[in-house]
Amino acid sequence: MKKIYLLVIILSCFACKKEAKKDDLYPTTETAQTPEQLGQEIFDGKGNCYSCHQTNKKIIGQGIQEIAKMYKGKNGQIVSFLKEESYPIVDPAMYATMKTNFAVTKNFTDEELKALEAYILSNSK
Ligand code: HEC
Repeated sequence: MKKIYLLVIILSCFACKKEAKKDDLYPTTETAQTPEQLGQEIFDGKGNCYSCHQTNKKIIGQGIQEIAKMYKGKNGQIVSFLKEESYPIVDPAMYATMKTNFAVTKNFTDEELKALEAYILSNSK
């Protein structure tokens, strides 16, 4: 009987070790994320950007392909736009609608803003 208990204890220790190893893997996957991937995650997630910006057609805001094309063509800085430090160049008539989002984007870190920029620019054709 004692032997069985001992076996159970030993086995459960192995189980613990395996789980600890799995957890160790997560940070590595996180750092392997590219800026574009992080940007997409924010765009589709906490940024809520997708609700007004689709990929290739205008709904409320321009599609991000069009935004990317204009920003590349005019050498614009999406990061400074999202910090409200530069003027709109895509659709200035609709600027007031976009402006409501600066309350959100101003809370993002520079890394997050750069990631959003990288994601948007990666959509240009
Ligand atoms: C409520 C709808 C709405 C949401 C949500 C929204 N946008 Fe916009 N966005 C707009 C509209 C409308 C425009 C066009 C006005 C303009 O060009 O500034 C725009 C324009 C833009 C532009 C072009 C700016 C320029 O120079 O004209 C960028 C870049 C942009 N949005 C990024 C984002 C990002 C990133 C998010 C998420 C954090 C986001 N938007 C969320 C409506 C929205």
